[in-house]
Amino acid sequence: MGTKWFFHMLCLVSSSCVQAIRADIYPTANLSSSWKITTGDLNYYPDGVGLIPVLADPGSETSPAMSCGLYSQRGLDSFVLSIYIMIGSGVNDLVSPRVLWSANKVNPVKINATLNFTSEGDLVLGDANGTLAWSTNTSGKSVIGMKIDIGGNLVLYDSSNSIVWQSFDYPTNTWLPGQHLTIGQKLVSSVSATSWSEGPFYLSLTSSGLSAFIAANPSQIYMKLIRKGYMFYPFKTGRLDYLVNSSHDIHEVVYESETEHFQYMRLESNGHLRVYHWVEATEALADDIPATRFGTCSYPLVCGSYGVCSNGKYCSCPKGKEGDSSYFDLVSLEDHSQGCVPVTPLSCQSAQRHLLLELDNVDYFEFVMVLADTNVENCKQACLNNCSCKAALFEYEFNVSHGNCALPSQIFSLTNISKQFTVHSITFIKVQEPELASSKSSPTKLNSTSKSSIEPESHSSSLKRTVIMALILAGSFVLALIAIYLTCKKHNLRDAQKEDGEEEVSLDMLPNLAKRFSYDDLKSATENFHQCRKLGGGGFGSVFKGTLGDGAKVAVKRLDLLGQGRKEFLAEVKTMGRIHHVNLVKLVGFCAERSHRLLVYEYMSNGSLDKWIFDRTPKGSLKWEIRKKIILNIAKGLTYLHEDCQKRIVHLDIKPQNILLDEDFNAKLSDFGLSKSIDKDQSHVITQMRGTRGYLAPEWLSRKITEKADVYSFGVVLLEVICGRKCMDYSQQEDNENLLQIVKKKAQGNQLFELIDKCGEDMLRHQEEVVKTMRTSLWCLHSDSARRPSMSTVVKVLEGVTTTEPSLESVTATEPIVDSSFLVSTPIDVEPNEAVSQFSTPPRASILSGPR
Ligand SMILES: *[C@@H]1O[C@H](CO)[C@@H](O)[C@H](O)[C@H]1NC(C)=O
Ligand SMILES: *[C@@H]1O[C@H](CO)[C@@H](O)[C@H](O)[C@H]1NC(C)=O
Ligand SMILES: *[C@@H]1O[C@H](CO)[C@@H](O)[C@H](O)[C@H]1NC(C)=O
Ligand SMILES: *[C@@H]1O[C@H](CO)[C@@H](O)[C@H](O)[C@H]1NC(C)=O
Ligand SMILES: *[C@@H]1O[C@H](CO)[C@@H](O)[C@H](O)[C@H]1NC(C)=O
Ligand SMILES: *[C@@H]1O[C@H](CO)[C@@H](O)[C@H](O)[C@H]1NC(C)=O
Ligand SMILES: *[C@@H]1O[C@H](CO)[C@@H](O)[C@H](O)[C@H]1NC(C)=O
Ligand SMILES: *[C@@H]1O[C@H](CO)[C@@H](O)[C@H](O)[C@H]1NC(C)=O
Ligand SMILES: *[C@@H]1O[C@H](CO)[C@@H](O)[C@H](O)[C@H]1NC(C)=O
Ligand SMILES: *[C@@H]1O[C@H](CO)[C@@H](O)[C@H](O)[C@H]1NC(C)=O
Repeated sequence: MGTKWFFHMLCLVSSSCVQAIRADIYPTANLSSSWKITTGDLNYYPDGVGLIPVLADPGSETSPAMSCGLYSQRGLDSFVLSIYIMIGSGVNDLVSPRVLWSANKVNPVKINATLNFTSEGDLVLGDANGTLAWSTNTSGKSVIGMKIDIGGNLVLYDSSNSIVWQSFDYPTNTWLPGQHLTIGQKLVSSVSATSWSEGPFYLSLTSSGLSAFIAANPSQIYMKLIRKGYMFYPFKTGRLDYLVNSSHDIHEVVYESETEHFQYMRLESNGHLRVYHWVEATEALADDIPATRFGTCSYPLVCGSYGVCSNGKYCSCPKGKEGDSSYFDLVSLEDHSQGCVPVTPLSCQSAQRHLLLELDNVDYFEFVMVLADTNVENCKQACLNNCSCKAALFEYEFNVSHGNCALPSQIFSLTNISKQFTVHSITFIKVQEPELASSKSSPTKLNSTSKSSIEPESHSSSLKRTVIMALILAGSFVLALIAIYLTCKKHNLRDAQKEDGEEEVSLDMLPNLAKRFSYDDLKSATENFHQCRKLGGGGFGSVFKGTLGDGAKVAVKRLDLLGQGRKEFLAEVKTMGRIHHVNLVKLVGFCAERSHRLLVYEYMSNGSLDKWIFDRTPKGSLKWEIRKKIILNIAKGLTYLHEDCQKRIVHLDIKPQNILLDEDFNAKLSDFGLSKSIDKDQSHVITQMRGTRGYLAPEWLSRKITEKADVYSFGVVLLEVICGRKCMDYSQQEDNENLLQIVKKKAQGNQLFELIDKCGEDMLRHQEEVVKTMRTSLWCLHSDSARRPSMSTVVKVLEGVTTTEPSLESVTATEPIVDSSFLVSTPIDVEPNEAVSQFSTPPRASILSGPR
């Protein structure tokens, strides 16, 4: 025995070994062949592995010897017909087989079992006592031989050498290059590396693409490998080709290797999908296909059921928003990754004791929308009303009164993520309130927690929870009424907040809006995003100058952030793809591939306006005629957005950085990532604070926003263009920091001309006209949004068509109006997108303007 093992090892190392296999075991077998598992014929390997080789292909320099045989994991009591390769050089480490496929995993056989390739062409594995363990069921199908091919496929073929049966049609946990996966077939993980039993993870093709699932009722998706061409994860060394049939439905996908190394993909027992290379007889990890944006924490069992995963590895039990951790216990104190169990198990019999525990900063890997366009209370109620619901997940864009709801029926690991990702989602998990007092105590674990055994405390906390629940119910009724009202008003706030797959779908539904580029196209257009080609950065990403294949110059914006950034991305593509105007930067195309989000714009050779107006070098100073043109262009762009589109579009981030100049100093608006559309019949939208400090209109405090917020920002930009300085300039002395304050003071003293940019040499020559334009900006900065002019009026005033507009008259003629209503005394000075709680206390009276 020992010598045989030694021989086999030697054999696999030296090249004569290949010969040895050949001499002994063939890659093909003829009908009426038989193999028996006897201890005498067994080859032994480390860890108690035993093998009876059946077929072997010798392999080559770059591909391993591919074998088929009866393999036993350990203890030699359960054998499985398998395809395997050998791992290990045999010099410093031991050689051991790596199984790539197995036939009778669910039904292993014992010593003395027989494998017969019958005269009828059936391959039959029978157990020692004669029972059938497994068969190819190919008797009478003209099979004349079987072979193991170099790619790891066991094939039964007929006289014309066509495949009658092949192991590739019966996927296990390993996917080999050339192997197809059709709809309904699954790659299933093993329960552990050393067990034949099937684990909970599987990879399966559905009509929406290839996804990894964890088995549940219904199964939950934790990873999507979306169509090749955009979202699909391109392996470093391979790819998946989706095959479509005549009706263009995806019906199978084939795995193709693109390296000279033999490679295979395995769905591991932990749910990872990994690609391995066979390099110099070792198994080298080539790829670990990343699940999602949250890394290893997004694998469903990383922290067991109900476990909360932090920083990719630490596991803990769920805690309520108020720090309440009394509902869950660790399954194992030694191994936190085994997850958590409810202290009191959920019981449908006492559903009245169900509570929803709100978790802070926690996200779930799957979101399957069940209720669309609902509010958070409806979502919670729907979960409380359905016993199979185990959690309520709510995602919203701006406010909890409008969002989408998911109600998973089983909870695996949760992810602890930073605030910036959870701002728009809330996770509630269902827990069972323990029974009061003495009644039959809960069967599990209760005596392990001091809490439930100390009656008074449990009593009072229960009471408290009951009261809270009553309040929640009452509150949800009111909120439901509000929601119904709001639904009737047909807000459409759902656009940007769909899960990844749906984002793909919505991108697909934008035909002809903009060209779709591949990431590789844009990589080569920008010389791999070379630093020298960087035009700017900040906000949601960096912008690079690119040259397309046809020589066209473009600006490529690469968004850095996932999650939040995606929303901006979608808003931008949707808005910009649809509208065209000479004063709006043209969106040439976009790229959405894997986690990459890029936008391709026409190239604007003079860059953004801020460089020209804040730059103190004379070279950078613009003549009045040019400044006037720029102002008018901005006004026309905004007029188009506000008044000429099907829906009113509010840009919400007008500032010099977002105004681009072409070679002739024509100005165009860009960066529609924060834009909102307002229905014609809607007076305003309610939205979270967004935009840039210094340019925010006072009504942001109420968050009731109309297009007049843009008019305000335009007024600020107009002043900046004329005064040649930033609205908030912290390099100035304290009383000089805020341009609007100074303008207010100078306007009162009729000294506006003093603020005109001295760098523009001809500016003072046009003093009268410049000051008139400044007054127009004051009108735009009226603290009462209703009294600001529309952008079309501004255009007329700037063009000199209208000068006698009554409100304008009052502004230009009487300074006191400016005094009492122009501006808030402190311009809004908070970071956009700050938590809503920032505004939960009413703003101080001093920062609210006088009523008008
Ligand atoms: C299979 O049969 C053919 C001819 O009948 C023979 O040449 C070949 O050696 C046989 N193969 C094996 C593995 O016995
Ligand atoms: C296998 O069969 C042989 C005789 O054919 C017998 O001696 C041996 O005990 C059997 N082994 C097992 C494990 O049943
Ligand atoms: C395989 O063939 C042998 C005789 O050649 C027979 O004893 C055995 O039962 C057969 N096994 C199966 C599973 O048919
Ligand atoms: C044969 O052995 C298998 C286990 O190896 C057992 O499940 C089956 O019942 C046995 N059949 C008979 C007829 O003894
Ligand atoms: C052969 O047929 C049996 C019974 O119909 C079935 O259970 C088994 O899965 C089939 N084997 C294969 C490889 O399809
Ligand atoms: C294409 O494949 C899909 C999925 O397998 C199937 O539902 C559809 O009927 C097929 N269409 C045609 C025309 O074959
Ligand atoms: C959400 O919006 C509604 C009106 O749509 C408003 O009454 C409510 O105060 C808002 N809630 C929050 C938390 O901003
Ligand atoms: C309860 O939820 C499950 C899935 O979570 C769903 O299949 C079932 O239809 C729901 N039952 C009711 C009455 O809504
Ligand atoms: C989540 O992470 C934050 C900080 O990153 C930490 O304070 C908090 O305790 C964590 N929550 C859980 C449930 O692990
Ligand atoms: C709970 O108490 C019972 C009886 O007092 C005991 O048998 C059991 O081991 C305890 N369970 C735990 C988890 O302490």
